[in-house]
Amino acid sequence: MSFRSEILRVAERVEDRLSSLLRNDSVLHQPQGGAIAPLGEAMRYAALGGGKRLRPFLLIQAAGLFDVPEDTALDSACALECIHCYSLVHDDLPAMDDDAMRRSRPTVHIAFDEATAVLAGDSLQTIAFEIVSSPNCHEDAAVRAELAYLLAKASGWQGMALGQALDLAAEQRPFSPKETTAMQMLKTGALFRFACEAGAVLGRADAERREPLIRFASAFGQAFQLADDLLDAEGDAAAMGKAASKDAERGKATLVGLLGIDGAKEHLSKLVEEAEVALVPFGGKAAMLIEAARFVAARRS
Ligand code: IPE
Ligand code: IPE
Ligand code: MG
Ligand code: MG
Ligand code: MG
Repeated sequence: MSFRSEILRVAERVEDRLSSLLRNDSVLHQPQGGAIAPLGEAMRYAALGGGKRLRPFLLIQAAGLFDVPEDTALDSACALECIHCYSLVHDDLPAMDDDAMRRSRPTVHIAFDEATAVLAGDSLQTIAFEIVSSPNCHEDAAVRAELAYLLAKASGWQGMALGQALDLAAEQRPFSPKETTAMQMLKTGALFRFACEAGAVLGRADAERREPLIRFASAFGQAFQLADDLLDAEGDAAAMGKAASKDAERGKATLVGLLGIDGAKEHLSKLVEEAEVALVPFGGKAAMLIEAARFVAARRS
């Protein structure tokens, strides 16, 4: 079982489950067909038909470390992907990064309109909490409550949303390397940390067993964003399915800007090593997570 075939297989499962969770059977149709308000359609457009599904993959793999079957982890993984997709829809808005392409297609505000993109993002966020708090997600209400609590903390004003606010603030004044890392651990790292912690929650792992996973998530999240910033600087927009060379133009705080391309690549290798070392206590069971860390550093999209 190679990493590549495994991530593709999980992506297919996530796609199928998301498609059924986002089933759009609105009764409000126009006489000529189609919905009066295309909100559900915009949500499906944002969430389906693309994306590496790396966060769901990590969640399922982290749960697997504690012998949690994939079926038991799938809905939590889909909830997390809904939060991620919402963050992308809002990240692309003119008020934020103002991007026209995402996952090789026009962004939601271009394909629909800005108000629909704001509402589709809002609704992808709330449906994530619908999904994790539903008994379909997990039979134990205490597990569901902890997942919802951690997902809210990871997504909100002291998690991903704060990271996004800092990312925008950095366009106005220079950030130090320390500030840049702190910002990236929130805007990108918080959801990867949730992916790993959720696996531990599903596996009812104690604090001692969670600790190495959290250290892995921290290095993984930093590596992921650093690779994203390197791709922005060096990558190919067609391969990435989104615009390149935008961070410097917009004055974004990135470690690529602060350390240069070579310095950033060196730091990236160190982060991947850190991620690998963190998982030593799990032995061979962590092989796929280690492959995932290597993959994010080497990816072209
Ligand atoms: C892009 O995330 C946004 C960042 C946090 C840098 P991904 O690269 O995981 O995007 P998809 O889901 O594969 O499109
Ligand atoms: C986005 O970071 C992070 C979130 C959406 C939370 P970027 O702005 O660097 O992501 P891309 O490059 O647009 O995918
Ligand atoms: Mg951004
Ligand atoms: Mg962006
Ligand atoms: Mg980027």
